[in-house]
Amino acid sequence: MSTGQPAPSDALVFFGATGDLAYKKIFPALQSMARRGRLEVPVIGVAKSGWTRDQLVERARASVTENGGLDAVAFPKLVEKLQYVDGDYNDANTFEQIKTHLAGATRPLHYLAIPPSLFPMVVERLSQAGLTSNARVVVEKPFGRDLVSAQSLNTTLHTAFPEASVFRIDHYLGKNAVQNILYFRFANAFLEPILNRNYVENVQITMAESFGVKGRGKFYDETGVIRDVIQNHLLQVVSYLAMEAPSSTYPEAIRDEQAKVLRNTRPMSTDNMVRGQFNGYRDEPGVAPDSYMATYAALRLYVDSWRWEGVPFYVRAGKSLAMTCTEVMVELKNPPQVVFKEAAPSMGNYIRFRVSPKVCIALGARAKVHGDKMIGAPTELAFTEEPEQGKGERLGDYERLLGDAMMGDPTLFARQDVVEAAWAIVDPVIHGPSPMYAYDPGTWGPKEAEALTADVGGWNTPK
Ligand code: BG6
Repeated sequence: MSTGQPAPSDALVFFGATGDLAYKKIFPALQSMARRGRLEVPVIGVAKSGWTRDQLVERARASVTENGGLDAVAFPKLVEKLQYVDGDYNDANTFEQIKTHLAGATRPLHYLAIPPSLFPMVVERLSQAGLTSNARVVVEKPFGRDLVSAQSLNTTLHTAFPEASVFRIDHYLGKNAVQNILYFRFANAFLEPILNRNYVENVQITMAESFGVKGRGKFYDETGVIRDVIQNHLLQVVSYLAMEAPSSTYPEAIRDEQAKVLRNTRPMSTDNMVRGQFNGYRDEPGVAPDSYMATYAALRLYVDSWRWEGVPFYVRAGKSLAMTCTEVMVELKNPPQVVFKEAAPSMGNYIRFRVSPKVCIALGARAKVHGDKMIGAPTELAFTEEPEQGKGERLGDYERLLGDAMMGDPTLFARQDVVEAAWAIVDPVIHGPSPMYAYDPGTWGPKEAEALTADVGGWNTPK
């Protein structure tokens, strides 16, 4: 009898088993799943590297050792489940071997941890081998390079998998702190009456990274900051902040609300954007000596809805900035200073969500300073969760997402219409031309970006 729940996947096949993503994220997630007793299915790594299974096991060992530590109990459990198929993605025999290793599993999850250019081939071969019915597919960002290529990628995936079986990973959605934006908004009644154009002056989202491209020069120089983190991670955050309350009774409710917000977000124009490139970027291995790719971008966005009309959403992200930190600041309007005759504070009230590295939600308010005069000072009511607290008990981003995909829960994955709506926002500015400003590593980006927020008193600088 059906329980109404989707059936869990009964095998995991991951393409790109010898690659970078598997090394950094997938093996550590699998080991954690094994630790929690959530890895009871065959795990089949696929790649074309001329390797043996033993070599893959050694790779997995190095991966978990470097990324979080080897667990002497869980790692052997992972090894017990791990199988390996070495073969060309364009060879039917590779897929016959996968079938043999599946040993009767009928609902596999196929994880395409491979370059998107290989998706059509792998999807077609999976389909020809009869490995797509009742199967799920996980794909990694970037989902395309622009709106047209994203649509074509979706068409390719849909030749073999219905949308309900496609799980697009945006690891930001797996972050506890990002989920907390949604939770904090809708689990408390006091916030909703003020989270709108009547009370909010502006919203600022900063994703700063103090490091450069970390050996990913080639990838980065084809991608740039807008495709790498703004079109996906930061627009997902915008959608969580700006969405209407989702219904609690309908499984697609959250993703429906995200899609609505992003569809109502005005497409970008170059006069609402400042792009930058850090000095030294062009000397990075893999980067073109005359590269015009942005490592920094600051955008001013508008959500054209009843709730947000006229409220600017500023979004900025960059490599080699002054610190590593992702923070959302919802700046509230100042009270009229008619009672206490103080100078209006530059920023009196706010709601601050720190996503990383320290997780924090804080409310900014003014309170009277102790003494005779009616003079105030800014205070902050904060509750903070250090990333170290409970580490090990908490699910990591990838473990959470991989587990959800295996269970068929799509909530934290990017749905096709959400992805396409996000591309439609940035599409007008990613094909150029637009000015590019240089900045020094260790700063907050090009000084030209200051003009963007001049009307609202400047950028919020995370501390
Ligand atoms: C990735 C980007 O998606 O997200 C990287 O490709 C970026 O460039 C990373 O550094 C940031 O994610 P996190 O979770 O490390 O903050």
